[in-house]
Amino acid sequence: MLSPLPSAKAMVPFVSVENMMRLVHHLGVETVLAELADAIEADFRRWESFDKTPRVASHSRDGVIELMPTSDGSVYSFKYVNGHPKNTVDGLQTVTAFGLLAEVSTGYPVLLTEMTLLTALRTAATSAMAARHLAPKSTRTMTMIGNGAQAEFQALAMKAVCGIDTVRLYDIDPRATEKTVQNLAGFDLKVVACRSAQEAIEGAEIITTCTADKQFATILTDNMVGAGVHINAIGGDCPGKTELHRDILKRSDVFVEFPPQTRIEGEIQQMAPDFPVVELWKVVTGAAPGRRDAKQITLFDSVGFAIEDFSALRYVRERLSGTDFYQNLDMIADPDDPRDLFGMLQRAK
Ligand SMILES: NC(=O)c1ccc[n+]([C@@H]2O[C@H](COP(=O)([O-])OP(=O)(O)OC[C@H]3O[C@@H](n4cnc5c(N)ncnc54)[C@H](O)[C@@H]3O)[C@@H](O)[C@H]2O)c1
Repeated sequence: MLSPLPSAKAMVPFVSVENMMRLVHHLGVETVLAELADAIEADFRRWESFDKTPRVASHSRDGVIELMPTSDGSVYSFKYVNGHPKNTVDGLQTVTAFGLLAEVSTGYPVLLTEMTLLTALRTAATSAMAARHLAPKSTRTMTMIGNGAQAEFQALAMKAVCGIDTVRLYDIDPRATEKTVQNLAGFDLKVVACRSAQEAIEGAEIITTCTADKQFATILTDNMVGAGVHINAIGGDCPGKTELHRDILKRSDVFVEFPPQTRIEGEIQQMAPDFPVVELWKVVTGAAPGRRDAKQITLFDSVGFAIEDFSALRYVRERLSGTDFYQNLDMIADPDDPRDLFGMLQRAK
């Protein structure tokens, strides 16, 4: 006997990778990045209304698997995400993710979605939102060291939100740079492929490091960083994984998402536990200064925080409405009598 069709309450909208791509193209990638930056900024403005906890990380020799939960009291979200720098050698991605949004009042999920693309979008949007507050006002040129999966998203977000018109690229693997040059063609950006990190940072007001290597790396040394730049450090996001020489941190004003998480995972894991940092949400609300003068080095020590995923998930849910860029998944068992779960199982025989 066929079981009865699931009721509407059983259904959870699911956004596949294919549908996420359709949604992004429907809206336009630069529009999505700019709108996500605004959505994330709006949630940073109400930072204090969120539950906050460092992500739950399961480390192994080759990488990490993490769960990132948060709630604002009416909506709950979590993301599953991994980071495996050696994956690309086997044709797998370094970072993959999916996530869920639920109603706090009932605990019922209201959205399940791919988040590999969405993480790249939200990370770039967060970087650009931070740069909007911290980078020099006249910023035109950005350096992108590490030209992997995140690279084009970072460049386009800085263009859409901060108005950069030039990107200087460097990667230890020239094929990664070549891929990025090709992908950025047609986006009205001047793209310059460079042969060293030193060459790439020439004339840039924003320096983004987004490399993947599970070690204490030194992508930038102190002598490479001139006065007045904004450093957007993305790749150091795990214990034992950093990108900047610690002397750079001593000369910079360091801005972070959630200090208890960043002190374990960010560039500042190299510093003493009381090393001074400014929480980015305080800059967004005006409670703390961002860039004060033209000579200051500002450093966004980004590791990625759950509230950014919350904002991205809510944004996708809003933008899905009125479209067909999702499928309904029969995800929640919904017996006619809520206490007769077993009866529902038996009737499906
Ligand atoms: N902060 C965040 O919110 C956030 C979000 C997503 C990813 N990440 C991190 O960003 C990093 C990059 O992610 P991805 O998905 O682009 O990875 P990826 O593996 O696709 O790309 C990394 C690139 O870095 C290059 N690289 C490695 N060492 C280098 C060096 N010394 N100099 C120059 N280039 C070098 C590699 O050749 C590769 O092209 C990862 O460490 C990831 O964990 C952080």
